[in-house]
Amino acid sequence: MILEPAPTVRELLAFYLEAGVDCALAEEPVDRLAELDVPPPAPRAAPPVEAPRPVAAPAVMRGEATPAPEIAIASAREAARTAPTLEALRELMQSFEGCALKHTATRLVFADGNPQARIMFVGEAPGRDEDIEGLPFVGRSGKLLDLMIGAIGLNRSTAYIANVIPWRPPGNRTPTPQETQICLPFIQRHIELVNPDVLVTLGNPSTQTLLSTREGIMRTRGRWFDYDTGQRKIRALPTFHPAYLLRSPSYKRLAWQDLRAIAKALAGS
Ligand code: URA
Repeated sequence: MILEPAPTVRELLAFYLEAGVDCALAEEPVDRLAELDVPPPAPRAAPPVEAPRPVAAPAVMRGEATPAPEIAIASAREAARTAPTLEALRELMQSFEGCALKHTATRLVFADGNPQARIMFVGEAPGRDEDIEGLPFVGRSGKLLDLMIGAIGLNRSTAYIANVIPWRPPGNRTPTPQETQICLPFIQRHIELVNPDVLVTLGNPSTQTLLSTREGIMRTRGRWFDYDTGQRKIRALPTFHPAYLLRSPSYKRLAWQDLRAIAKALAGS
């Protein structure tokens, strides 16, 4: 048998990059195969019957282990509801420990642009560039978004931009439905506090999550919806995500129609 020489560190790194690995999640490697040898834990004795405890909302803010999703969702709702300002909301989100994505992301990506703007764009989740800079839509799709909004005379001083999920999912994977549900109260409160005249949902995940529809973006784009903050109804228009337009430029024509509809709505209201 001919033995191959062991790969160099450079070759290994090249292999990982090729395989799509672009971030390290821990200092030490974890041997998942070794974990298979661990005997299953002995069944636990039934706990003594106690009176039910109140929902552990404060623990979620204190940095204890990531709680069960229902507790995290309840805690996010409670926290978001009480944020009186955008700055308070940002601080609450900084200290919120209920979403595991926070632990793999570099930082919170809260928003960019003018909070007084009449128009708010909401994407899905930050990618690598956003995670590094701490601002939404600063990578390739962000550059396209800037061009798109520039085409109707807007820029980051006249528009406001955020995401449904404020922490980058590792390796840009799709956020799980639980992660989305945990983050939803924050973006809902975010929209309520910005209170724009027009809300633009970018792409399918943001549209389906915020506008409570199961229809795909091909059907929803260009159609006006009402987004109900509980205080008032905001006109909302789904359009294609710029990352999708980078992959499928032929849809830019339809995106342009959506942008013109947005410009018309802003001019008319
Ligand atoms: N894609 C998004 O949905 N949001 C960003 O901030 C960047 C890319």
